[in-house]
Amino acid sequence: MVDMATIEGLCKRRGFIYRSSEIYGGFNGFFDYGPLGVELKNNIKRAWWKDFVHGRDDIVGLDAAIIMHPDVWRASGHVAGFSDPMVDCKESKLRFRADQIFFAEVKVDGETIGYVSVLEDDAMQAEAEKKASELKRKLAKQGALGEVVLKNYMDAKPFEYDLIPSPATGNAGTLTPPRDFNLMFQTYVGAMRDETAIAYLRPETAQGIFADFKNICDTSRVKVPFGIAQIGKAFRNEITPRNFIFRSREFEQMEIEYFISPYDDWKTLHRQWIDACKAWFVSIGLPAESLAEDVHPQEKLAHYAKACTDITFHFPHGLQELQGIAVRGNFDLTQHQNASGKNLEYFDEARKEKYLPHVIEPSLGVDRTFLAVMSAAYTEDEVPNDKGQPEKRILLKFSPRVSPFKAAVFPLVKNKPEIFGRAEELYKKLRRRWNVFFDASGAIGRRYRRQDEIGTPFGITVDFQTIEGDGTVTLRDRDTTEQVRMSESELIAYLSEKIDA
Ligand code: GAP
Repeated sequence: MVDMATIEGLCKRRGFIYRSSEIYGGFNGFFDYGPLGVELKNNIKRAWWKDFVHGRDDIVGLDAAIIMHPDVWRASGHVAGFSDPMVDCKESKLRFRADQIFFAEVKVDGETIGYVSVLEDDAMQAEAEKKASELKRKLAKQGALGEVVLKNYMDAKPFEYDLIPSPATGNAGTLTPPRDFNLMFQTYVGAMRDETAIAYLRPETAQGIFADFKNICDTSRVKVPFGIAQIGKAFRNEITPRNFIFRSREFEQMEIEYFISPYDDWKTLHRQWIDACKAWFVSIGLPAESLAEDVHPQEKLAHYAKACTDITFHFPHGLQELQGIAVRGNFDLTQHQNASGKNLEYFDEARKEKYLPHVIEPSLGVDRTFLAVMSAAYTEDEVPNDKGQPEKRILLKFSPRVSPFKAAVFPLVKNKPEIFGRAEELYKKLRRRWNVFFDASGAIGRRYRRQDEIGTPFGITVDFQTIEGDGTVTLRDRDTTEQVRMSESELIAYLSEKIDA
C-alpha cells in the first residue's frame, strides 16, 4: 500500500487537495479541495446519492441547516457527552488524547526504577523498550531489564499521573489526569454574546434527520421501513487531527437513518445494510479485499445500541474505520420527543399501532471515502515512452464513475487545422454529457501520461486517419495503454457503457 506522504504529495502537486490557508502557514485539521479534488469529491457524493436515494424506493433526501437549535444537541447527548478525554502537558503546553498516550513501568530485577511514555503508533513498543534501556543506563542500574508492558494512560492509577513522563518533554509531573474535552465548535447566534446565545456547528448530520423526522412523515409518502439520507458538512474540534484528511476538523458526512419497526428483524436488516454498503464501495473502485468488518463487542456499545459494525479499509496508515453502521434502537427519537414535548410517533397502518421507529444508521465520511478511493487508485508501473523505452509511470486507476475527467481529447498534432478543428468539435460534443479535458500541447506520450496521473480513464486521439481516412479515432485505455480505433458513434456508445454504468 502506498504511504500517506506520497498521496499527500500527489494531491498537492495535481490540485486535488491543499492545506487550508496555506499562505498563512496552514490551519491544522482543515483542507481545501482544488480543481480536481472538488470533481472527485462531487462524483463520490453523486454516486452515493444516485445509488442510495434515487436508486431506491425506500429512501428520501434532506438538507438540514448546519446550525440547529442548541436544545437538539442537549437532547442528543452531545452537549454533555460528546467529548474525548484529553491530557495537557503543563510544561510544553501540548494537548494529547489520553487514549493515544501509552506508558510502562520500568523494572530492573523486579524493582521499579521509573516510567516511560510513548504516543500511539506502529513502532511504539520498540520506542518504549529503547527509552527503558536509556533510563536504566542513565540511572546506572545493574541487573536484568524486565519486560516493557505498555498500558494506556486511561488505565493509569491516580498516583501514576505524577510519575509518567510527558511524551513531549520526557519529564514527569507535568501531565494532567484525563479531562473531558467537548468536540463541538461553539458560536453565537444573534447580537448577544452570552450563554443564552451559544449555538453549535453540527458534529454530525444525523440529528438534522431526527429533528425533521415528523415533518418528513407528514409531508412525504414514506412507510416504515424507510430511510432519510443527508450529505453535508460536520465539524469536530478534534484534539489530534491527523493522517491527512482521515481525521479533520471540518469534514463531510453521508448519513442515512433507516427507520424500522420495533417488530422488524433488525439483525437481518443490519446485515443487508453492511452488504449494500460494501457493494457500493466496490462499485466506486475499492477492491473487495481491501475492506473488512470490525464488529463492536457488546460491552463497548452505548447503553441504547444493539449492535455496531464498522466497515474498515486498508488506509496508508493501517486498517481503520471507513464507515460505521450502528443499530441505535429508538434512543434519538425518544430523546427528541421528550425534550421537545412533541409527539414523534409513527402510525403503522398495517398494524394499526403507533410507535417510535428504531433505526439502523449507516454513517460515512466523504473525505475518508476520498482518501480510500485515492489510495486504492494509486499505482506505479512501467510503460514504453515515445522512443519505445520503458519509463516509470504514476497512474490513478479511478473507476470512471468517480474520476474527475471521464476522457481527454487530443489532436495528434497542433499545427494541422483539420485535425485540431475535428478534435475540438468532438471535445465540445462530449463535454455536453461528461467532464472532458482537451489537450493539444506537447508530445502525445506526455499528454497521455499527464492524464494517467490524474486518473482520466480514456484518451481519444484525432489523427490523420480520422480526417483523411475512415473517420475513426483512437481510444486509449489508461490501465492497459491499449489503443483501438472506433467510429464516433461507437465511441459514444462505448463511453456511455463505461461511464454511466
Ligand atoms: N452519526 C454517527 C456518527 O457521526 P461517527 O463514527 O462519529 O458516527 C461517522 O462518524 C463517520 O464520519 C466515520 O465513519 C468517518 O467516516 C467520518 N468521520 C468521523 N469523524 C471524522 C473526522 N474527524 N474527519 C473525517 N471523517 C470523520
